[in-house]
Amino acid sequence: MKAYIKKIANYIPKNIITNEKLSETLDTNHEWIASRTGISQRYRSGKEETSLSMALHAINNLNIIEDDIKNIDAIIVATSTKQHPSPSTATLIQNSLEIKNCITLDLSAACSGYIYSINTATTLIESGQCETVLVVSSEKYSDIINWEDRGTAILFGDGCNATLLEKTNDDNKGIISIDLGSEEHASLLLVKNGGSISPITESNIDDNGHYVQMIGSEIFKHAIFFFSQSIKNILSKSSLTINDIDLIIPHQANIRIMKSLAKSMDVSMDKIFVNIQNYGNTSAASIGIALSEAIEQGKIKEGDNVVLAAFGAGLTWGSTLIKF
Ligand code: ACO
Repeated sequence: MKAYIKKIANYIPKNIITNEKLSETLDTNHEWIASRTGISQRYRSGKEETSLSMALHAINNLNIIEDDIKNIDAIIVATSTKQHPSPSTATLIQNSLEIKNCITLDLSAACSGYIYSINTATTLIESGQCETVLVVSSEKYSDIINWEDRGTAILFGDGCNATLLEKTNDDNKGIISIDLGSEEHASLLLVKNGGSISPITESNIDDNGHYVQMIGSEIFKHAIFFFSQSIKNILSKSSLTINDIDLIIPHQANIRIMKSLAKSMDVSMDKIFVNIQNYGNTSAASIGIALSEAIEQGKIKEGDNVVLAAFGAGLTWGSTLIKF
């Protein structure tokens, strides 16, 4: 028994923030941002929008019938910007969809959250515990970004993806294999305050520890290594070579990281799906958003082997091989 992607859809907030717009308030410019990151614009959700409201829009965009909703056995939400510390955003989605009983959990793996969630969903399905699992990756990074820090404010954007996985007995399609990992580099990308060690208080609110703090150049170096290592692992697990892969969808963090990945794997950029120019880095939502767009743009055909690959704070990493 295998898991396959039955439906996938995105929700992107309306408000576009161009590089030019950022340059009005930050000491930066379009040329620097575009050449160093590949980003031209990103989206910022409205004040009233949350990771939950974006999730509900994305689920609505799946266009699934009432019966499919009733059949959902588990909801997994990948996010670093959950609705409340407790209960989980997944539980709030369950309530909104009026599903009587299902497994609900939020998963924290930063930008690797989508791959970690797809793995969890696949395991639940392959073990026979579930037949239908909804994975939602929803991020409102605009709330945890210091808009005065040009090192991070230029990179991140808001967005959401919903992916419905179902069991299949068809051996020729679905999630073929997964590779996951994490290595201790917590200080490279950290939101210091707001957890149990350092709750946000009046006395620490001014030190900006509730915002993302990042050592970008160090992440850059590690990212290329973990990306290519994970893809090599998955190819070896599946007894395939890179020539058997039709499309690679990497986490959209920086076009230079993606180009280095292509070089280290010895593949042309035609094989790498890129949409960072439009969205920036939407963290856990980035790969789901990219996969949905790649399908919509006809870049994935039946029978294609597609590799999804991620790295994120932790540092976590992972990749997934899917046969469509
Ligand atoms: N505009 C103009 N100049 C800038 C900006 C900016 N926005 N940011 C930095 N600079 C300047 C720096 O001050 C520095 O100037 P100096 O040489 O006079 O000191 C110069 O540009 C180079 O700075 P670097 O930080 O070395 O720039 P780099 O080429 O490394 O690019 C970047 C920075 C884009 C952040 C890059 O390191 C990167 O993308 N790293 C990966 C980050 C990443 O992937 N993060 C997400 C992790 S996933 C997750 O879990 C959320």
